[in-house]
Amino acid sequence: MSVLITNIGELVINAPEAEAFTAIGAAAVVLDDGLVAWTGPAAEAPAADERVDAAGRAVLPGFVDSHTHLVFAGERSAEFAARMAGLPYSAGGIASTVAATRAATDAVLRANVARLAGELLRQGTTTFECKSGYGLTVADEARSVALAAEVTPEVTYLGAHVVPPEFSGDAARYVDLVCGDMLRACAPVSRWVDVFCERGAFGADEARAVLAAGARAGLQPRVHANQLGPGPGVQVAVEAGAASADHCTFLSDADVSALAGSGETVATLLPGVEFATRSPYPDARRLLAAGVTVALASDCNPGSCFTSSMPLCVALAVREMRLTTQEAVWAGTAGGAHALRRSDVGHLGIGARADLIMLEGPSHAYLAYRPGVPLVAGVWRSGERVPQVGVA
Ligand code: NIG
Ligand code: FE
Repeated sequence: MSVLITNIGELVINAPEAEAFTAIGAAAVVLDDGLVAWTGPAAEAPAADERVDAAGRAVLPGFVDSHTHLVFAGERSAEFAARMAGLPYSAGGIASTVAATRAATDAVLRANVARLAGELLRQGTTTFECKSGYGLTVADEARSVALAAEVTPEVTYLGAHVVPPEFSGDAARYVDLVCGDMLRACAPVSRWVDVFCERGAFGADEARAVLAAGARAGLQPRVHANQLGPGPGVQVAVEAGAASADHCTFLSDADVSALAGSGETVATLLPGVEFATRSPYPDARRLLAAGVTVALASDCNPGSCFTSSMPLCVALAVREMRLTTQEAVWAGTAGGAHALRRSDVGHLGIGARADLIMLEGPSHAYLAYRPGVPLVAGVWRSGERVPQVGVA
């Protein structure tokens, strides 16, 4: 079954060979067998089994959200409100979500994950990564990665999120558990291993140990780095050949050079976190000027940033981090795909997975130009229209 979407005002392709935003006007796209089969001027489009008239709307690759924490119970709106009243954000709040998650049934966790995954999809995210990290026992981490694996293949084992209270004062013993029994229980359904390398969480040597153990179990590394202050996270990520160093809020010149020289570690920026913790935004222009590949992701989690909206992240990246609208859209689509080492998503080149979104507006710029407006008017995943998202 092939589908022709025609009369597209702007078709964002992100041609992979360009490594940058590319788009064409007055365009059409043909989806066939779950893949992009043809793109070009609407006037030259071939026929297909089904025809959709975009009526001048923009069509983009679906967002690739390379950083989420969807497996948890409870909520922390009071912590958010206190922060907005002047209290600082710290890694300490994670413990309250850990307690709620451990106490929750599988059914409650599964329902939460499904609800959030639905939110992501309705806002145009067609690929997402999902971390564990609020269980922090062997059994609770194992069920967290198993629940994540029900909704995405991009599952990340984050046993090294923080040292849980029962190991307080004995981080070394907890790191042994993370690198031993817990890893063995989680590796079979995980693709990635992550560590929160930060004051209040894990230091450089602990992070190296976690990533190395993960690698031995076949998991590829990614790192929560330099979120709350300067530190070794980015250097550890680059040394380990991580796919991504995430947050990158406080970077030294040496960190920027390390990322630029790595050739394989993407800097994933999470502007929703700076928004929701009232922190300074990372200097995205400095990263781009140095030649670093930049991705945008939501970091959807109950503490530092409880948004599932990639459109909001694009708007914040444009307004607050001075990305151009083109750079921000590329970072939230193709950039996210780079951060997940995926070449089949994040672009609409021929043969890409037919994951795309239609905007209620003629240009990708509407994502930042009309912030807070539900602009996603249609979503196709593997060539199939998602029924809950309809054009008005
Ligand atoms: O990415 N940085 C560590 N983890 C999350 C926050 C988790 C929380 O506050 O619950 C983050 O910001
Ligand atoms: Fe995170």
